[in-house]
Amino acid sequence: MDKFNIVMDKIARRDLTVGIVGLGYVGLPLAVAFARKGVKVLGFDKNASKVDMVNKGRNYISDIPEDDFKAAAAEKSLAASTDFSRLAETTAIIVCVPTPLDRFKKPDMRFIETACVDIGRYMKPGTFISLESTTYPTTTEDFLKPIIERESGLKEGIDFWLCFSPERVDPGNKTYKTANTPKVVGPLGEEAKAIAMALYGIAIEHLYPVSSPRVAEMVKILENTYRLVNISLINELALLSGKMSIDIWEVVEAAKSKPYGFQAFYPGPGIGGHCIPLDPFYLEYIAKGFNFDLTMIDAAGRINNLMPYRIMNKIAYALNRRKKAMNGSKILFLGVSYKPDIDDTRESPALLVMEQVARKGAIVSYHDPYVPETFDEHGRLWKGVDLSDETIGSADCVVFTTNHSCFDVPHIVETADLVVDTRNSVKSVRIENGKVFKL
Ligand SMILES: NC(=O)c1ccc[n+]([C@@H]2O[C@H](COP(=O)([O-])OP(=O)(O)OC[C@H]3O[C@@H](n4cnc5c(N)ncnc54)[C@H](O)[C@@H]3O)[C@@H](O)[C@H]2O)c1
Repeated sequence: MDKFNIVMDKIARRDLTVGIVGLGYVGLPLAVAFARKGVKVLGFDKNASKVDMVNKGRNYISDIPEDDFKAAAAEKSLAASTDFSRLAETTAIIVCVPTPLDRFKKPDMRFIETACVDIGRYMKPGTFISLESTTYPTTTEDFLKPIIERESGLKEGIDFWLCFSPERVDPGNKTYKTANTPKVVGPLGEEAKAIAMALYGIAIEHLYPVSSPRVAEMVKILENTYRLVNISLINELALLSGKMSIDIWEVVEAAKSKPYGFQAFYPGPGIGGHCIPLDPFYLEYIAKGFNFDLTMIDAAGRINNLMPYRIMNKIAYALNRRKKAMNGSKILFLGVSYKPDIDDTRESPALLVMEQVARKGAIVSYHDPYVPETFDEHGRLWKGVDLSDETIGSADCVVFTTNHSCFDVPHIVETADLVVDTRNSVKSVRIENGKVFKL
């Protein structure tokens, strides 16, 4: 049998080891999804403590249902290692390493590069490699392929196959998890397509193949750029509406009654998380290489960057109505994760607001039932406080920054002296009522 048929045969018999490189928010759930189907999974991570936790059967990603993780661990099909030479044991490798932007908003490709060097050095001929990290279109063909060919001395399409398949995980989503979220698959060539469909078909319920990796790379960026632009648009309209005494949330609810052509987006203190604030800027980076300016992304990014300052101004405005200065006022923030009911604070706008307000001399504290402590972008450690009546009542201003469903909003509003609501947590108040001020 040739290499292609050997791989297809192994997948059909589920007699293969899938290597997952990078065991974070994306990699570990995917590892569990394969392991749950009885496929042997060997995870790789540079972080020894994560590897250790996986091998001890300890789950550190809250989005993975505990039962799924335990079942995968019990089947003994999930293991992890820091020894990348063990990539030689795998038939398929899925790369889920970080793709941050550097401080000049340029893609930092070091993690992908290191992963590709390790893969090229240790993989065996006849390996299928899929990249899931978000990145700019052309990465798989123009960045991954040359590194892997150089390190391995092997030829893409003959000795190994490549694919890009974006991850769409929506942290905190109770309905859609890794296995039941439709997955776009962008293979390089017909053989890669057959392998990708057979392999991912084991763990993922719905696959949507596209004609090339670069189409799949663009799909991911389109999805997140669409969100960036629309959230920035609604934030800008929210700011204008506030000035015009129009309740933007009432506007959105009414617009939703249109049965076609409108999708609701909601205002807030800004965009957070690991994807939406970053992904469109991969596209901006590659577009510059084509002498092309992405003006929509640029404008959306600017609105988003200003949101924490606008929220700070709103807090200053509310305090001012009480004849209080921000300097020296006690301000309690409720929620620091970037969206409700999760513990992820990456790029969280709440932290940016807290940081700015603290710089103006306010005495800042926060409460978040999901985040006992967290670091801001300058490495400052913030420790959460308990949400007692005393904490609420003694604050000069309480700010709703994340709409966690467990917050007892009526009680908090009743106990607080002054409230700034950036999330429409206080449904009974429209724009402001002397005590509650909305975005
Ligand atoms: N978190 C999300 O919601 C989400 C959603 C869709 C796409 N993505 C994309 O998926 C990719 C991974 O994101 P994540 O949230 O899982 O990141 P993460 O930081 O949670 O996990 C990445 C893991 O990779 C490990 N790592 C770094 N370099 C490595 C290397 N060379 N070899 C092996 N392991 C290495 C890190 O130690 C870490 O454990 C990113 O490109 C991200 O943009 C993330």
